[in-house]
Amino acid sequence: MNLSNFGRKFTRKSGINQLMQDLGAAANSNHPDLCMLGGGNPAFIPQAQALFGQEMRALIDNNLFERMIGLYDGPQGEQSFREVLSEYLNQQFDWSIGPQNISLTNGSQNSFFYLFNALAGDMPDGSFKKIMFPLSPEYVGYADSGLSDDMFVSHKPNIELLENRQFKYRIDFDQLEIGDEIGAICLSRPTNPTGNVIGNRELARLSDLALEHNIPLIVDNAYGQPFPNVIYADAKLNWNNNTVLCMSLSKLGLPGARTGIVIANEEITNTIGALSGIITLAPNSVGAALMTRMIQDGEIGHLTEEIIKPFYRQKLASAIEIFNEVFADLPVLMHKPEGAFFLWLWCKDLPISSKELYQRLKAKHVFVIPGEDFFIDMDPNWEHTRQCVRINYGQPSDKLRTGFELMAKELRSLY
Ligand SMILES: Cc1ncc(COP(=O)(O)O)c(C=O)c1O
Repeated sequence: MNLSNFGRKFTRKSGINQLMQDLGAAANSNHPDLCMLGGGNPAFIPQAQALFGQEMRALIDNNLFERMIGLYDGPQGEQSFREVLSEYLNQQFDWSIGPQNISLTNGSQNSFFYLFNALAGDMPDGSFKKIMFPLSPEYVGYADSGLSDDMFVSHKPNIELLENRQFKYRIDFDQLEIGDEIGAICLSRPTNPTGNVIGNRELARLSDLALEHNIPLIVDNAYGQPFPNVIYADAKLNWNNNTVLCMSLSKLGLPGARTGIVIANEEITNTIGALSGIITLAPNSVGAALMTRMIQDGEIGHLTEEIIKPFYRQKLASAIEIFNEVFADLPVLMHKPEGAFFLWLWCKDLPISSKELYQRLKAKHVFVIPGEDFFIDMDPNWEHTRQCVRINYGQPSDKLRTGFELMAKELRSLY
């Protein structure tokens, strides 16, 4: 088949695509020894799922189901959901946004595709712009989302060593040069893969830099406030006309509803709406229909504060305990877990690459995510890029323990 450049770019083999296929096959194998510590799925939380089920039944009982499945929403997404959400956010964070500042997409991944390609790539004046990630490692899903090659530039972090065999990546502002070739700054907060939460002051500094250079600051809030609120650090959620805040219903437990939420100035909101109209006609209506009443009645607060957050907090506490016990004799450090549901482990001076470690663990039915691909556009000579793995700690703790023990055993033999 004679594929266009677009066709070729988006069908060529990417490391992460292959990995996701691997993980999918492993998850479907139902192997009794499987320890699935990879993947980015939110955990199945029965209480949360029961609430979503109840809500779906209420939609059916109230004759709203037919509307949900039977109509295309406008390209910006369901109007009443955007109204209810803007009121809720204004109340929670003292903002003054309206439905004209909100556009819905078919998931954040979809939002980033629109945003990155609308703000960077080939520009009408013949220049070429890039999206800058101020802190590497960053969410791997960004890496292949540009219509052009080389659309991203990342910055190496400072590594701060902490107590209890933990560390934290910090933005190296001294190295953060923003030239004319930068079209937007983007970061995930909490960060996938590390669980990092960029501090309020650092974020304010990024926001000032973005404003100074007249480019938007895109904050990927997929794990942040107000939902799912899997965040343990003191993080203030700010928004201004120059900030594009991306949210999602996925990590709340609804990845199947494919609902992304973009909060931005009207110019960007209209841009997203126009792109949606052409590319998908209309965004999915299911997430909006399921969540409108829960947000309007404030029940979302109960869901996040009393069900989702405690679930992950308890999982995290148990994961840290198992980590401290099982890896005590090994030079393995953990990124300070401040949010999201991942542990990012740094195996210092690992004698093989983390991709090779992945293969060795896979042979033992333990699946972790090797860290290399999260260092988007980073100098591969920096050995740190090959020494990290990501673990999803939302798994049953017996599986986590077995997986950690097998990984520690492998590392002991390697070291
Ligand atoms: C940081 C981050 N952003 C965006 C996404 C994409 O989420 P969605 O399901 O809304 O497309 C993910 C999913 O893992 C993520 O971790």
